[in-house]
Amino acid sequence: MYKIALDGPSGSGKSVMAKAVAKKLNILYVDTGALYRAIGLFMYRNGVDVADKAAVVANLKNVDVKLSQSEEGQVVYLNGENVNRDIRLPEISMYASGVSSIPEVRAFLLELQRDAAKTNNVIMDGRDIGTVIFPDAEVKIFLFARDEVRAKRRYLELKEKGIDTTLEEVLNDMQRRDENDRTRAIAPAVPAEDAVMLDSSELNIDQTIDAIINIIEKRIK
Ligand code: DC
Repeated sequence: MYKIALDGPSGSGKSVMAKAVAKKLNILYVDTGALYRAIGLFMYRNGVDVADKAAVVANLKNVDVKLSQSEEGQVVYLNGENVNRDIRLPEISMYASGVSSIPEVRAFLLELQRDAAKTNNVIMDGRDIGTVIFPDAEVKIFLFARDEVRAKRRYLELKEKGIDTTLEEVLNDMQRRDENDRTRAIAPAVPAEDAVMLDSSELNIDQTIDAIINIIEKRIK
């Protein structure tokens, strides 16, 4: 059983790449950002201010997050409801980032993430997979790209989903969120010391997938 940790900032292309690599290698793909988004969504829907850590922690007892796999990939359930679409709304991003800086939230999601790798080879994308969730991962990759490139990708992705926003709004939101994720005290979104750094700014999707497969093949077999 092996684990591939794919970490990096938002819009670096982690989810697209992880999905494609999982398909190629016939392994499980887990998008861990979706778990933080599900908790963020719960707080948003229930009017909980995510800056109020005590309130978030008190509300965790009402939250049940589960993961399952379907034909279309990962499905996230929040208290039994499939929330795959709602967790992608732009307003949920900051809520996800907010709850992700709270140690109790990270502890709440820890086992769920580790369990996913118990019975499957897995590629997991997130911020702390190589540093906290699987410090012993066989492969660790930190995928990044220039801010403008990442914002444009995220903007096009949202537009395709019919979500109304502007490029400037996406860039601002992304930079604010990255700063939040990078500078938090617990599990900051920084590369593991032994991660391979991969800059996708000048690479298209296929080139990035090839680069990732190359890195993996050098370490697993
Ligand atoms: O990858 P994403 O944009 O869906 O992640 C949403 C937020 O969750 C992001 O701002 C940081 C947080 N996150 C985290 O702290 N740790 C992870 N492993 C994945 C996401």
